[in-house]
Order: sequence, then C-alpha cells, then structure tokens
Amino acid sequence: MKKRYFLTVSTLAVLALTSASVMAQDNTFKIGLILPMTGQQATTGRQIEAAARLYMAQNGDTVAGKKIQLIVKDDTSVPDVTKRLAQDLVVNDKVNVLAGFGITPSALATAPIATQSKTPQVVMAAATSSITQASPYIVRTSFTLPQAAVALADWAPKNGIKKVVTLVSDYGPGIDAEKYFKERLTFNGGQITEALRVPLRNPDFAPFLQKVRDLKPDALFVFVPSGAGAAVMKQFLERGMDKAGIKLIGTGDVTDDDQLNDMGDGALGVVTSHHYSTAHPSALNKKFVEAFGKANKGLRPNFMAVGGYDGMRVIYEALRITKGNGGGDALLAAMKGQIFESPRGPMFIDAQTRDVVQNIYLRKVEKKDGQLYNVEFDVIKDVKDPGKTK
Ligand code: PHB
Repeated sequence: MKKRYFLTVSTLAVLALTSASVMAQDNTFKIGLILPMTGQQATTGRQIEAAARLYMAQNGDTVAGKKIQLIVKDDTSVPDVTKRLAQDLVVNDKVNVLAGFGITPSALATAPIATQSKTPQVVMAAATSSITQASPYIVRTSFTLPQAAVALADWAPKNGIKKVVTLVSDYGPGIDAEKYFKERLTFNGGQITEALRVPLRNPDFAPFLQKVRDLKPDALFVFVPSGAGAAVMKQFLERGMDKAGIKLIGTGDVTDDDQLNDMGDGALGVVTSHHYSTAHPSALNKKFVEAFGKANKGLRPNFMAVGGYDGMRVIYEALRITKGNGGGDALLAAMKGQIFESPRGPMFIDAQTRDVVQNIYLRKVEKKDGQLYNVEFDVIKDVKDPGKTK
C-alpha cells in the first residue's frame, strides 16, 4: 500500500517535470537567423547580426509572455548550406521563424522549406524581385533592385547622362538591376551602349573596366552586392575613368556605408539610388546610428543592418499581435500589412505581395566632418517593387 502510494507520487512528479519542460519550450520563441558570417558576404552577416542584437537589447527579449531566442548560423553564403541549416533549424530546433538570407540563391534555396513547414521566412538582405514569389511564407524587409534602379534611370537623363554602359554581378539582383535600369532609361530617351556581367564569385573587374574606358559612355551604371563596392571604386579610379569623363552611378550597394568611408575622396560626387543611408536625416535614424556604433566599436550601420533591424521589428510585432501564438500561419498574417517608421523612413509590408514598400532616395557622396556619406538630395515616395506590376 505504502509502495503504491510512493509510485503514484513519483509518477506525478515525472508528469509535472515533463509538463514544466513542455511549458518552458512553449514559452520560448525561436528565431533561426541564417547569415553569411564568413566568406565573400561576411560584412552582410556582421551587420545583420549586430542589428538584430541591438533590436533585442533595445526592446527586451520577452514578447507577449514569450522568451525570444536568437539562433545564429553561418551559411558562408553557399545556398546548399543555407538549405541544410534551415532544415535543421525547423526540424530539430523547432524555430518559429527563419530569417536572414544574405544573397538571393540562399533565400531561394530555403523557400521550399518555409512552404512545406509553414514557417515564415523573413528575408532581411537578398533583393531579387522574384524572391517573394518563391514561397507564400516569405516576407521581405530589405529592398528590391528594380525599386532602386528605376529611380536612377529617371534621374540620369535629366542630368546629362544619355549613353550608359551597365556592369552587374551575373546573378538575380544584377540581372534585375540591368533589366529595369535599361528599360526605364530607354523609355526616357537614353541608351545602353553595352551590358557587361561579371561573375559573383571572385570577380576581376579590370578587363571589364578597360572595355568601358574604350567605349567612353557618359556613365557606368554598376550593381555589385554589398561588400564588393570598394573593389569596383578602386579600379575605376586607378584607371582614371573619372578623369576621362565617365561618371560612376549605381544602386546604393556600390557606395555601401560599411565601406564608403575607406573609399577615399575619389568617391566624392558619385550618385546612387537606394532605400537607406547612414546619413538619413531623421531623429529615429540618428538614434539608430548612434546606438549601433556604440554597441559595435563605432561601426556604421549599412542598408543590410537596417533590413535586419526592421526584420526583427516585424517579427516582434507579429508575436505581439498574435498575443504569443507562435504558429506560422498566425505569425504570417500578422506580418502582412505592418506599417511603421524605420531608420530608413516610412515603410510598409504590402499584404498582397509580402514585399516592402518604401521611399527610394537619390544620394550623392559628400564629405561631412571629414567623413564620406551618401547624402540624400531627392526622394521618390512609397515605391512598390516595379517587378510585381508585370
Ligand atoms: C542578393 O543576393 O540578393 C543581394 C546581395 C547583396 C546586395 C543586394 C542583393 O547588396
């Protein structure tokens, strides 16, 4: 009799322990953040991780009673690795959200996993237009290349730039940039005299730039992914292309704030179009830049950081809206239609496309207090991805 009583108590104890651990698990909300922390795109990983951690430091690690856990994984920007990590995060870690994605092929490789497991995939960096169509669970907080390229193609012909050679990285975002820039420039009476594509991996810009010099266009339009801009700028200047009267223009990826200040005065005057500049003159951005620098040894946040920061905002707010329901479909519904002020300016997650609608700024590299900045001089408001209207 006594023994039976003991067994019952121990069974109860086990049950209590089990439900305690289940509760602990239920009270955790996991974000699997997959980023290139090493390799060619390492600056993207460093920027986004720093921004995500800053967001958590500023907003706490508890939302609607759930404890937020950030699990960071390095995919070295190899899409097969991204996919394997995503699978592992979903199956073993049981993450509520997948996030990050430094390059387009990594975002695309993960899309089927998001769809099959009904896990929201928050794309914080990759910027090919079609990405959001690869899964109904993808939400984007970065930008699209067509958004940026079209704005520049409207500006250029009004500013004496008629003949342009394009030079882009030969993959999704580069091809988008080339296509949309060309289409709009031609519509505006300009002309693309040559379209050059360089490989994504270990590009050697020298032979391409030599060709551009010989062609002598009014301007060279460039898209290279974040982290590669400084190499283009260096070789452009070394070849004296600016002195030969060829202007360098591009999407803001080329005058990336992560590298801009080290590019030297040769970068002065370069005009680009983009959604974010460290120098964006809003009170919210000033606070963001200061806090980011303080937490990261003076590092400037670039457009990748802002994509990561806002991605965390979208996730936190979704969990708040669902009152702590971490289910994929509930979260996804709560991500759609979010509208808020970002350090970049106002932004909106279009409920239909799950893509970001935002201002695109025209900027010129200028020196302020001895430092180089992309200084905004014009804005096109509430730009939807032009790639979605076709
Ligand atoms: C991309 O691979 O989609 C990508 C990467 C870096 C950028 C822009 C786009 O700066």
